Amino acid sequence: MNTAAFVKRHGSYGLDAPYLIAVPVALVLSGVVQGILTGLPWPFIGAALVLLFALFGYHTSRRGKFVVWDRLLGELEWTGAEQVLDVGCGRGAVLMPAASRLTTGRAVGIDLWRGRDQSGNAMEATWKNAVAEGVADHVELRTADMTELPFEDESFDVIVSSMAVHNLKARAERDRALTEAVRVLRPGGRLLIADLRHTGQHCETLHSLGMSGVSRRGLGWRMWWSGPWLPTHLATATKPR
Ligand SMILES: C[S@@+](CC[C@H](N)C(=O)[O-])C[C@H]1O[C@@H](n2cnc3c(N)ncnc32)[C@H](O)[C@@H]1O
Repeated sequence: MNTAAFVKRHGSYGLDAPYLIAVPVALVLSGVVQGILTGLPWPFIGAALVLLFALFGYHTSRRGKFVVWDRLLGELEWTGAEQVLDVGCGRGAVLMPAASRLTTGRAVGIDLWRGRDQSGNAMEATWKNAVAEGVADHVELRTADMTELPFEDESFDVIVSSMAVHNLKARAERDRALTEAVRVLRPGGRLLIADLRHTGQHCETLHSLGMSGVSRRGLGWRMWWSGPWLPTHLATATKPR
């Protein structure tokens, strides 16, 4: 597996869903306290399991997703002239490695910069990462909602999105975001959406939008958010020419 993206990383990418850290911390503490009070081994075992699952999430956020996305981007054929869109780019974990594959092309990241979804999430932080990674010449950032993309039809050759679409709670909103992605994708363009929920629905919607080669696959343990209970899947499709 190519881990070059992780090794070469110079930016600072925060932690996904930082508010969730309180849950395993509370469960581990309560297990330890119960274990001490009861003298039984089970609360300690429970606390150790919770800690293990939480460590998977930490690994995914800090390293796993970079390794996996480097591999996914490496599977695409690049000329360097592509127009790339990252939907819900956050601090640029996918945007920067995509931009590093460009010569004359441009990688555009759109986001609402919600701190609840990623720690330190802000356009300025993402821009600093573009500079730190040496790709700022190829990066453009915009504040925009994924359900209303501020781009012309058929503007992008590659559209990526990682852990972002699930933030839209209603299926109608998610379908709207997918419809927008398909609208701004050029014929022959590739769409890759990684998420921990709803990727099966994404595939149904992409089929109904006339996309071809729609497929879904698991991304393996490096993108488990809470052990095997919360894996990440990738939905991919191509816009017919
Ligand atoms: C868990 S973060 C993932 C960020 C980045 N893709 C990554 O993998 O590191 C989810 C991102 O989706 C963004 N987001 C949530 N709802 C959005 C919306 N309606 N439109 C655009 N971005 C949104 C959040 O601000 C956040 O940056």
